[in-house]
Amino acid sequence: HDIILIGAPVDSGKDRKGCIMGPDAYRTAGLGDTLNDLGHRVTDLGNLVAEDTDIQDHDHLIALPQTVGWTQTLNAAAKDAAAQGLPIFLGGDHSLALGTVTGIADHAASINKPLFVLWLDAHSDFHTPLTTDSGNLHGTPVAYFTGHDGFDAFPPVQNPVPTDQMCMIGLRSVDPAEHAALANTDMHIADMRAIDEGGIRAPLAEFLDRVSAADGLLHVSLDVDFLDPDIAPAVGTTVPGGATLREAHLVMEMLHDSGRVTSLDLVELNPFMDERGKTASLMVDLTASLMGRRVFDRPTRSFA
Ligand code: ARG
Ligand code: MN
Ligand code: MN
Ligand code: MN
Repeated sequence: HDIILIGAPVDSGKDRKGCIMGPDAYRTAGLGDTLNDLGHRVTDLGNLVAEDTDIQDHDHLIALPQTVGWTQTLNAAAKDAAAQGLPIFLGGDHSLALGTVTGIADHAASINKPLFVLWLDAHSDFHTPLTTDSGNLHGTPVAYFTGHDGFDAFPPVQNPVPTDQMCMIGLRSVDPAEHAALANTDMHIADMRAIDEGGIRAPLAEFLDRVSAADGLLHVSLDVDFLDPDIAPAVGTTVPGGATLREAHLVMEMLHDSGRVTSLDLVELNPFMDERGKTASLMVDLTASLMGRRVFDRPTRSFA
């Protein structure tokens, strides 16, 4: 693949600071060389800077003007990069997906392909600016790019992603307003209980079959808090009981085998909270699995 690394040091989506250091932590953990060693051509575009806007500060929504600026910048950057290769957005908090997913959706529409989105997260991020209690816009991207109301300060969404082209895996923290809104959709959801009972493979396999059947593009949005906090402590919104190391690698390997992934967000890494770089390194390892790193080509029982 032609992989395009795009630094998106978005730190406006919540109160707690630190995601601004995310892109450089991925670089420090060796993301570029790792992908290069797997045989990919890697271009690093460096870090983007958010456009200025003339939006006013909002009394409830945190850093609204900055997040609107990032949305404009990342929408354009994503549209551009998707036409040239496989963009990996180095976050930055999850509000970056307001821009990346809408930009990728514009690209998909321009080549007449359906866009599917896989959301790997403890949270559904399905608030609107009207329902969020926290005022943290990193809790809103899914409602935005699926075309919900309440985002008047943001650019109008040209190509909303249909909810039945979306799958969420790993959920274990969903606010009441999000729960109510999700109930009105046909979003495909595997929460942690479903994973405990039936494993992580089946829901993902079902979703990937649908992506393939539709000849779709697939955008993956990987939030650090999808992972269990024991293995991935460097995130401001830890929720106990997340995906294990093995589950996460299996997801990445299945994604690779599908051959469908066309873009990726790595979000919510807060290097200020990391332990000797272990979360950044794990995110790099997971990206490597997604991009083809293997022990063997298929499950083995012996070396015969
Ligand atoms: N639902 C909570 C909120 O809206 C948490 C959102 C967490 N989102 C994230 N991208 N980590 O504040
Ligand atoms: Mn999230
Ligand atoms: Mn989350
Ligand atoms: Mn459906």
